[in-house]
Amino acid sequence: MKEKIKEVYVCSECGYQSAKWMGQCPSCLEWNTMEAQLVTPQPTGRAARMAVGDNGFNPISALRLSAIDQNAEHRIQTGTTELDRVLGGGIVNGSVVLLGGEPGAGKSTIMLQMCGAVAQLGQVLYVSGEESARQIKLRADRLHINSDNISIATSTNIASVCDTIAAMKPALAVIDSIQTMELHGLNSSPGTVSQIRECTSLLLRTAKEQEVPVFIIGHVNKDGAIAGPKVLEHIVDTVLYFEGERHLAYRILRAVKNRFGSTNEIGVFEMGECGLAPVDNPSMMLLEGRPENVPGSCVTSILEGSRPIMVEVQALLSKSVYASPRRTSDGFDYNRMALLTAVLEKRGGFPLSSLDAFINVVGGLRLDDPSADLAVVLALVSSLRDKPIPQDMIVLGEVGLSGEVRAVSNITPRLTEAGRLGFRRCILPFTNLNRLKDFSADIELLGVRNLSGAFSYIN
Ligand code: TYD
Ligand code: MG
Repeated sequence: MKEKIKEVYVCSECGYQSAKWMGQCPSCLEWNTMEAQLVTPQPTGRAARMAVGDNGFNPISALRLSAIDQNAEHRIQTGTTELDRVLGGGIVNGSVVLLGGEPGAGKSTIMLQMCGAVAQLGQVLYVSGEESARQIKLRADRLHINSDNISIATSTNIASVCDTIAAMKPALAVIDSIQTMELHGLNSSPGTVSQIRECTSLLLRTAKEQEVPVFIIGHVNKDGAIAGPKVLEHIVDTVLYFEGERHLAYRILRAVKNRFGSTNEIGVFEMGECGLAPVDNPSMMLLEGRPENVPGSCVTSILEGSRPIMVEVQALLSKSVYASPRRTSDGFDYNRMALLTAVLEKRGGFPLSSLDAFINVVGGLRLDDPSADLAVVLALVSSLRDKPIPQDMIVLGEVGLSGEVRAVSNITPRLTEAGRLGFRRCILPFTNLNRLKDFSADIELLGVRNLSGAFSYIN
């Protein structure tokens, strides 16, 4: 049968296919993302199976749950506890991990450092389609990695890369980056949706067949999503994101998806002269350089996975020159800020409608935890009254629309961390006090039921 080559249009954002060109993708609603691609239709269904000599009856074997050996899962340690924690305890054999992040975040650096650690256990293959072997060697020298077990390959041909993995059977393979890889025979250039998808599928198959863990580096686009289709995230076992800006010294590694562990955990690293060093005590680093006795600064504790992290929230109120005052927030949800300022205005009687309000979370951290609400409110009030919040006080609590202060989860680890860092007083929701009867750290607990209760501590 003569094969007919068809032209289809594929959305470069979400992978949606259409026979016609369209200005806007109907699936993800992005504009100008439909790209022409040539495809050779493959026979599917029964016809395809008959074509490869399959008689059409092919049951798969299924195992009883009790017969599955649960100890078979072996994890390789990555050399840094921070990375191990994010991965859920180490690298699982045959898993495929996607590492995303902006350029300069340190993806290549952390991968090379991991290779250095794993090379003590066996062969490691580092494939780069972006840098020359010399450049990688220079970076390895800088990171003091000098192992004969690391092999560097510079190739963009994914089929050869997979063959190399199969022949070499390394303890770990790293692909830097998926956007540079290319599967010959596909009528599209590297970095397009179909190339990324096919290359990843091939790597996945190789990883599972050869039982080799594969780490894939993926670039992110300007919106912060991994460039390429969402399907990429569905194919792989684990998706990690490297957050943090180039000009900030520290980076946060976050698991967005993890088939082998929790997605709540984060790893904190600091970029230094010799690569990324784990930060064991992120709170201490975030609170460094905190101004003393300055109005508008309030410390709270957020929970990242199982770890409490102390952050400083800053607020500034100034007289507005505009008809509608400005509200700017960095690191805190804008709508949540609007809600809290409205509550302050209505329940607290503060004249915020004639004032510009700015919120800043120090260190470039994002506060998603509602327990930071009360700290934001108190920082605003402290700025308005020009009265500092005591230096040794932390503030926890979610604020409701009627000005009530609601309970927060997992309060004990937060308080323990605060006590360790020298905080001696804590404003917290009254309802949390019940559960803290046995709490014995050296910290004074000040339960409040509503905002006016909390305001009484700033004067
Ligand atoms: P890189 O790992 O190449 O980032 P990515 O692969 O995510 O694009 O490096 C990121 C930045 O880190 C780069 O600007 C140089 C800097 N850097 C250091 O500060 N110290 C070091 O030891 C290394 C290796 C890099
Ligand atoms: Mg890189």
